[in-house]
Amino acid sequence: MLSQDDVFTELGIGPVWRLREAPSSTPLTAPCSPFTTWDTLAEAVAHCTACKLHQTRTQGVLGVGDRHADWLIIGEAPGADEDAQGEPFVGQAGKLLDAMLAAIGLQRGNNVYITNVLKSRPPGNRDPAPDEIAACRPYLLAQIELIQPKLILVLGRVAAQSLLDTQETVGRLRGRVHAFQNVPLVVTYHPAYLLRSLPDKARAWEDLCLARRTYASLTPES
Ligand code: URA
Repeated sequence: MLSQDDVFTELGIGPVWRLREAPSSTPLTAPCSPFTTWDTLAEAVAHCTACKLHQTRTQGVLGVGDRHADWLIIGEAPGADEDAQGEPFVGQAGKLLDAMLAAIGLQRGNNVYITNVLKSRPPGNRDPAPDEIAACRPYLLAQIELIQPKLILVLGRVAAQSLLDTQETVGRLRGRVHAFQNVPLVVTYHPAYLLRSLPDKARAWEDLCLARRTYASLTPES
């Protein structure tokens, strides 16, 4: 278990953070999805052939964690480690994600669900193609409908642009609270990018604080 000092060292940031006021939100109203249970959804992802990625992936990677979580974390796509193990964010980027979550008092699997926009690995870790994102979208929508999260934290450009239907950069999307189907949504940098870009770790820390503050304003007992 990481101590808070370890976490701050990992993130390369100072330890001071405060909860401030955040905008209120309205309840989730997701559209109807054909996947009404986790079993049907998991089965569909396991056998999905909706895009060409099924030809090269080892397995579909649905997601991991608490299926009634308040926090939904959405990344881009499985990488080599995730494709092999069947779980999102288990490689180096995943270690940093765990540290980021720990910094705001969260733990994988405990009131947190982690998934990706794509459930199959793009070969060579290339960017997801628009048709692949579109083919996978029903699965993500079903997850949101089943989980009914209170807050969505989006990691990186691909996930942010896809969920917010925009071409804006992460730099322009971060730092404020968006909404996806009335669920508050905060954008931050992808942990794989943060591993290469120290200066943006401080901004990621601000985003985590914004997410935590937003969540606290929704759930006063938290
Ligand atoms: N990067 C992602 O976006 N998702 C993963 O699961 C792993 C790395």
